Amino acid sequence: MAKTVTAKAHTNIALVKYWGKKDADLMLPQNGSISLTLDHFYTQTSVTFATQLTADEIEFNGQRLTAQKAARISQFLDLVRQQSGQTAYAKVVTENHVPTSAGLASSASGFAALAGAASRAAGLQLDLTDLSRLARRGSGSATRSIFGGFVEWHAGHDDASSYAEVLQDPVDWDIQMIAVVLKATQKPISSTAGMARVVQTSPYYPAWVQTAEADLKRMRQAIAARDLQQVGQIAETNAMRMHALNLSAEPAFNYFTAETLTAIQAVTDLRSQGVNCYYTLDAGPNVKIICAGQDTDVIKTALQQYFEPEQLIVAKPGPGITITEN
Ligand code: PMV
Repeated sequence: MAKTVTAKAHTNIALVKYWGKKDADLMLPQNGSISLTLDHFYTQTSVTFATQLTADEIEFNGQRLTAQKAARISQFLDLVRQQSGQTAYAKVVTENHVPTSAGLASSASGFAALAGAASRAAGLQLDLTDLSRLARRGSGSATRSIFGGFVEWHAGHDDASSYAEVLQDPVDWDIQMIAVVLKATQKPISSTAGMARVVQTSPYYPAWVQTAEADLKRMRQAIAARDLQQVGQIAETNAMRMHALNLSAEPAFNYFTAETLTAIQAVTDLRSQGVNCYYTLDAGPNVKIICAGQDTDVIKTALQQYFEPEQLIVAKPGPGITITEN
């Protein structure tokens, strides 16, 4: 009997961001990054390799994916087959609890869960470092979703040296994020294409790589000191520098919508009224607000001037991957 392995991985939000590859095949980033894994958003994936299958079968939230959409997953499974010597095709069943393609990094939890389930189902027993390296090949941000709490992905210079590790887990102080989930729109440009364009055309790219080093150092210190204000300020500045790369690319692009700017302005207004809150955003329109749990009610009430209550999702620090054999 072929065994089925199920893995559950949570998404993460980068506080110092990865935005640009040094090596697209190996998925080596230009700079290191630091994130917080979140409890509310996760992917659960089951994988079974079975000799009777004539192709990989991939089911996503109850629907069979077309071959075209499944291609990226099949390519990842090829890598697992290569590493394990497994020759059978796989059945993959994924339940995704993350709004997809709207900058909430469903690829992070998605490829982390797939790496965990597929490697174990194929007969590999990887430690968490090697699992992180494997997840990286699916999607850069997945490298960090193997772990819980605050996580750092070391850029590295080859496959062996590019992996993530825990900076702080469990997170024993009060930091939360409110995800402002905006209208799902089609991304103007995928993160892969966006990154390639900024590396090639933004005159500010070398400055980004240089300042990322300083941001990483300051962020490590702020996390160790459990200093919400510092964590928030560094994250907000880092996020806007990432988006400034997009605005300075040729041709320029951005992931903002009018609602994104409304949410950013609301956070800035709250801060000027004395509420300790900061924003960050990834390759999509959604804004994530970094704050303390004691302030989430005040912030949600203020944001309800512009958004529906169900658009405001509070998340706390989340756990690392779990893998079970059924
Ligand atoms: O690995 P990807 O393609 O999901 O890249 C995501 C990059 C950002 O989310 C924008 C930043 C990051 O470090 O997660």
